[in-house]
Amino acid sequence: MGFLSVLSFAHRFIEERVSTGDTVIDATCGNGVDTRYLAELIGPRGTLYGFDIQEAALQRTAERLAPLAEEGRQPKLRLILGSHADMREHVDTAAHGQVGAIMFNFGYLPGADPSVITQAHSSIAALEAALALLRPGGIVTAVLYPGHEGGDREAAAIEAWASVLPQAVGQAIIYRMIQKPAAPYLIAVEKRK
Ligand SMILES: C[S@@+](CC[C@H](N)C(=O)[O-])C[C@H]1O[C@@H](n2cnc3c(N)ncnc32)[C@H](O)[C@@H]1O
Repeated sequence: MGFLSVLSFAHRFIEERVSTGDTVIDATCGNGVDTRYLAELIGPRGTLYGFDIQEAALQRTAERLAPLAEEGRQPKLRLILGSHADMREHVDTAAHGQVGAIMFNFGYLPGADPSVITQAHSSIAALEAALALLRPGGIVTAVLYPGHEGGDREAAAIEAWASVLPQAVGQAIIYRMIQKPAAPYLIAVEKRK
């Protein structure tokens, strides 16, 4: 049977904490797989923000969510062309401190220019912003890709950031196949209740 995949493990954490009608964020829309997952989880009464710096990613995400809109199952959706480091400015102030889950899937957009990758300095700024937006008990999930050029440095920087996060802010965990150092792995932070 084997262990859960990194993404399935992230989903489990999110499903334990998020309900229909919640506000959630996909900080790296990419092809929209995680965005659609979050949309289905919160349903039409929920609010979903999605961020990406590439227009192509937001287009693909909108296409992936279109069937939900046609079926009346789409949450209130805001797709934002911009950096997740600025997410606080884009999220309604009424939702600050109320967000249930924020997903990050770092690296590059599959099928696009692989040199456009997430960068440690903006990724860490975004993780800090995410923690500020979460409600107590809410969760940030971050899938890291140490197997590509630049991804290794970013993963190390984020792991170092999470390792020294004050416990008064949140609890951080890591889920990793330790025999496969280049495989994607997960860091999750639950905001302190
Ligand atoms: C691995 S992909 C995400 C995959 C996506 N979660 C999915 O389900 O298909 C990473 C995405 O992060 C985006 N990205 C890079 N830097 C970013 C930033 N500063 N803010 C928001 N998105 C960024 C890239 O354009 C790319 O689409």
